[in-house]
Amino acid sequence: MKLCIDTADVAQIRHIYTFFPVDGVSTNPSILAKAGRDPYEVLKEIRSIIGEDDELFVQVMARKANVMVEEAHRILQELGKTTLVKVPCTPEGFKAMKMLREEGIRFIGTAVYTAMQGWLAAKCGAEYVAPYVNRIDNMGFDGIQVAKDIHDAIAGSGYDSGLLAASFKNSQQVLELARYGVKAVTAAPDIIEGLVKNAAIDHALDAFTEDLEGLCGKGRTMADL
Ligand code: G3P
Repeated sequence: MKLCIDTADVAQIRHIYTFFPVDGVSTNPSILAKAGRDPYEVLKEIRSIIGEDDELFVQVMARKANVMVEEAHRILQELGKTTLVKVPCTPEGFKAMKMLREEGIRFIGTAVYTAMQGWLAAKCGAEYVAPYVNRIDNMGFDGIQVAKDIHDAIAGSGYDSGLLAASFKNSQQVLELARYGVKAVTAAPDIIEGLVKNAAIDHALDAFTEDLEGLCGKGRTMADL
């Protein structure tokens, strides 16, 4: 399963890229707004951090299909071919997806709250479909179950697509979807760090250090015994 970072904070992206096995960065208009700078300036900086090969996800803003396609052209021109265009799963969005597919432009269906939306986006040729797990939970439904339903509907239909599940409230949800075999998730930096935030790990390492230093001297490691 791919693991992407859902942020436009370049310091956090640098940090997570240094320490964690991540595969790309996703953004949306609200995330870009938080950065408080020119969106293309921020996105180009992100591209320079993650390299040319990793996937960068950038959302269109228009509500009309023909303008979404214009936005897709500009996004690719500015940020390169490993950038995937995020298109909302609305009727206009599906129209835009069919046009992008004709042009061979890579895209992802976003703003997904139901399995039906996700299945339609996959049918339109979306490389990924992004259910908003936590937001679905907050509506009184089961976001993880909706994500699993979309995964199953895509597999059942035999489409060449998969999830980029988004909007997580905790790290366990990420693991649950990994166990289910989904294609990708994107999570905020704190959710990714939460995958390994555990006092028991620190205590175990402290005890190992104390034991070896007791035998060989303070500050010694296996490199200098
Ligand atoms: O792009 C969608 C995703 O980032 C939403 O996350 O945490 O705002 O619900 P959140």
